[in-house]
Amino acid sequence: MGKLKTFYSANSIKNFLQSEFQDQNIGFVPTMGALHHGHLSLIDRSNEENDITVLSIFVNPKQFNNPEDLEKYPRKIEEDLALLDHYGSQVIVFIPEVDDVYPKDFTSVNIDLGELATTMEGEFRPGHFQGVVDVIYRFYEILHPTRAYFGEKDYQQLAIMRFMVEKCGLEKEVVGCDIIRENSGLASSSRNFRLSEKDKQDALVIYNSLSKAKELAKDHSISEIKEMVKRNFENSTLELEYFEIVHPHTLRFLNEWVPGARACIAAFCNGVRLIDNMQLT
Ligand code: PAF
Repeated sequence: MGKLKTFYSANSIKNFLQSEFQDQNIGFVPTMGALHHGHLSLIDRSNEENDITVLSIFVNPKQFNNPEDLEKYPRKIEEDLALLDHYGSQVIVFIPEVDDVYPKDFTSVNIDLGELATTMEGEFRPGHFQGVVDVIYRFYEILHPTRAYFGEKDYQQLAIMRFMVEKCGLEKEVVGCDIIRENSGLASSSRNFRLSEKDKQDALVIYNSLSKAKELAKDHSISEIKEMVKRNFENSTLELEYFEIVHPHTLRFLNEWVPGARACIAAFCNGVRLIDNMQLT
């Protein structure tokens, strides 16, 4: 097996893929680095389904509405490359600069994301999804992947990625992959690097609330479950930003149960914003 290849410019990776992998299936795993088991599971899935996997590491400034969040986002390029090393030539790493992703003549993708982007993450992180759409569209232009892999942890993002492909008529498959959790139940996330052991312990109120909601969904109403979760957070050190139970495809807030209903949650743990979700029914 050959060595891991790393590209730092859009032109160089574009030319390389065009000459070496034309007519082959390219799997794309977009990341912002600080890699963890969740990312590795996306790579493994992509490797199973494609001839080659391209993984991008790019902390996308456009999707951060809060400058402090952007500044504090974990950056661990050396560790990331060490973690990827054993994939050898099966994985190509793309680590572009901001000016290369967003050249002077860059214009935002002009699609109406509609209701999908106005609630939950869309409400509390204005502009976030436009930033995600912009960066992923640009990566699609550079890499021409056959399939792109996104974790279900960012459930709303995954729905928007599917919507974008359809709306823009892009011939790509968007593959959603299961949430990977630490043994405790805490969802794997790059942001976990910012948590102490105590924070991680405290943060379990998120997973525990979701699990309890799933258990209670059998014989309780949606409003009863929302009350229960609110109380759980009042008795914790975390600050709940939202807890919603939504339709699995439209993401509309539900008042009555439907099959596949999803609970989505965002909360601050010692200043670190965490999100998670779970299918309840
Ligand atoms: O989920 C993420 O890490 C980011 O939103 C993504 C998809 C890499 C786009 O910057």
